[in-house]
This record gives sequence, structure tokens and C-alpha cells, in this order.
Amino acid sequence: MIFDKKLDAGRIRRDFPTLGKMIYADSACMSLKPRQVIEKMNEYYYNYPACAGRSAHRYGRKLEEEIARARKEIAVFIGAKEKEIIFTKNATEALNLAANGLRLKRGDEVIITDKEHSSNIIPWLKLKKEIGIKVVICNTGTSGIDLEELRSLINNRTKLISAVHVSNLDGMENDISGIVKIARKKGVRVMIDACQSAPHKTIDVKKIDCDFLAFSGHKMLGPTGTGVLYGKLKELEKLGMFIVGGETVLDATYEDYKPEEIPARFEAGLQNYSGIIGLGEACRYLKKVGMKNIEKHEKKLGDILRDGLRDVKGVEIIGSNSGVFNFNIKGMTHHEVAKILDSGYGIMVRSGRHCVHEWYNDHKIEGSVRASFYLYNTEEEAERFVSAVKEIARIGN
Ligand SMILES: Cc1ncc(COP(=O)(O)O)c(C=O)c1O
Repeated sequence: MIFDKKLDAGRIRRDFPTLGKMIYADSACMSLKPRQVIEKMNEYYYNYPACAGRSAHRYGRKLEEEIARARKEIAVFIGAKEKEIIFTKNATEALNLAANGLRLKRGDEVIITDKEHSSNIIPWLKLKKEIGIKVVICNTGTSGIDLEELRSLINNRTKLISAVHVSNLDGMENDISGIVKIARKKGVRVMIDACQSAPHKTIDVKKIDCDFLAFSGHKMLGPTGTGVLYGKLKELEKLGMFIVGGETVLDATYEDYKPEEIPARFEAGLQNYSGIIGLGEACRYLKKVGMKNIEKHEKKLGDILRDGLRDVKGVEIIGSNSGVFNFNIKGMTHHEVAKILDSGYGIMVRSGRHCVHEWYNDHKIEGSVRASFYLYNTEEEAERFVSAVKEIARIGN
């Protein structure tokens, strides 16, 4: 499979076994998986279903090779070194690993934005409750983080800025280079939640110069229950261990233990081996299609959604960027709209608060409908979505 400059969604669709008559528009939550990823996962169960890091036999050795290959593939995908890639079961675990490993103390401050996923808010609120850190909120609005406000919020107690790159709520993008530039001048670390950017655009951690970056595999064609924490090597060396036990120590007595090398000391117990290998394959797949091609394709789909639904009576747009379209229809609940889209039009979207409860409470909005399109969605599907929403709004108003 070799792709040229233009992304051919029709050709890509053949790789996704579940695609058919239905329109799948819930990729910001969970992307579909191509045949290549599923086959790579099955290869583990069929051919070498062993443990890594402890079995000297041939299955064990083969698995070690495959894990190393996947780690390299993922490292290259985000411009990191292999040692800087820590496997987790999702982005939430990755963010918690960093939050707990930083060894923050009472009075330390962490700045987040007002549009974070719960997974980048609750770990900090938990530390606020348990040890008394201060969680400071910086505003974003529709066009991204307010850098002047951010600058004004930093003081000598600020230990970290932890910000979402692209919001799962409305696809809004934060200026992460701007964030890092400000943080560097003040000697503050930066962690980026790249869950909604890594699947859709080129990520180069060296260029971004962030200290930590977290993302999930299941939103970028990878297996469900996979995630990654990237950390600069010098930061990982300082990071405390979070979940400990088997495979996190080089040696131990009844009194003490000697931590494993990085990254093994952060990957406790048996791992999701087929998932890790599948995630490596997902990165290979995305690379072949080309992240620039994906970005361009999604922009085109986003334009169709926005142009088609901008001035439609009864359609209240909450936010819309690239392939993400978040809205409500006047007089109907978000769950009603989602159910009608599914049963009446064969369109699968997500409805609710999208794990950004804080933002919805603050804006006094009960919830909303979110459609999120990806590389396998076509322009015709985006047009069908527009027609369906128009029709529902017309009938309901
Ligand atoms: C921006 C963002 N951060 C974090 C998460 C949590 O990801 P995971 O389910 O992999 O823990 C999500 C999932 O929707 C997300 O969109």
C-alpha cells in the first residue's frame, strides 16, 4: 500500500472491516482499526504468545524483537528516542504516571486550561485534595490558550503547565510552541495531552520541546487499551515510579529494591503485548498514508460541515475545527439527536459531556452532540451528515 500526495479515502476504507453502509463519526472517542493492525495483533496470539523481558525461549525472544520494533516505530512517529517511550494502557494512565511521579508538594502550582479532558484535570484535583497543590486554570476561548494570561499566571511556585494540544470538545488547537516558549523562560516544565493531535497531525517532540507528552493508541487506529507517555530522558530520570512490582526492579531484598532502567521501571507487570505491537503497526499505517494528507483531508471534511450547517435555524454550534463538529439542536436533548442520527440516518456520533464536565458546568450547557471524522470518512459522508442534521433541525423546529 503506497499512497501518493492525495489521500484516497475510498481506497483506505477497504482496510477497515467494519465500514459499510453506516457512517462512523465517533473517532475522537475511538477510531476504527485497519486489517493490518488486527492481523499484527493476532500474529502475537497465533505465533508467539509469550512474556517479554523474562523468557529466554524462542517465543520470548521473538516477542522482545517485536516489542523493540514497535517502540522504535512509535518513537520515530513522534520524533523521540526509544527509551523515551513508556507504554501504558491509555492516555489517562500516562497522565497519572507523570502527575504522581513529579513528587509535587503542598503549595506547588500546576497550570491547566479550561478545556481539558477529565484525565488532565482529575489527577491534579486529586493531588490538590490529598497534598494541597494549587490547580490554576488558564482560559482558552474558541481560538486557543490566551498566552498573555498564561504568562501572568506563572510564579515561582509553578511547577508544571499541563495543556491539551487539540481539544476533544471542539477540535480547538492550542499554540503549544507558544506555551513551551513562555514556560522555558520561567523554568517551568510542560506536559502536552496529544490524544486528539497525534492521530491527525505530525508530532515532533523535539521541535515542540515539551517535557512530557501523552496520547492513546485507540484514537489513532491502534488497539483498544493502549497509550504512551513520552518523557525527555532527563525528566524520566527524575520521575518517581508510580505502579511498581514485577519487571520494575533490577534486584530486591526483603528490605529494599533497585529500580530497573528506563523505560522498564515505569512498565510494571505483564504488558498488553499484542496491543503494543498493534500500535506500532498503526503508526506504520499512518506514516504510509502521510500525516499531512490526513490533516488536509480532515480540513476539507470540516469545511463541508461548517459551510453546510453554519446558518441553519435550530442548529446551535458549540465548536467546530477540522473534522470535529460539536452542536445541539434547539428543543431536543443531545441524546435524542444522537439516537435519531443513528436509527434514522445510520450515523454514529457521541452525545454527552465528552469528559469535559467542568467546561459544560461552567457554561451551563447540559451536554451536546459531537461528530468526529477521520481519514476513512468521505466527503459524501460529510454531506450526508449535513443533510441529516438539517432535516432533524427542520422537523424539530
Ligand atoms: C483530549 C483527551 N485527553 C485524554 C483522553 C483520555 O484518553 P484515554 O481514554 O486513552 O485514557 C481523551 C479521550 O477521549 C481525550 O480526548
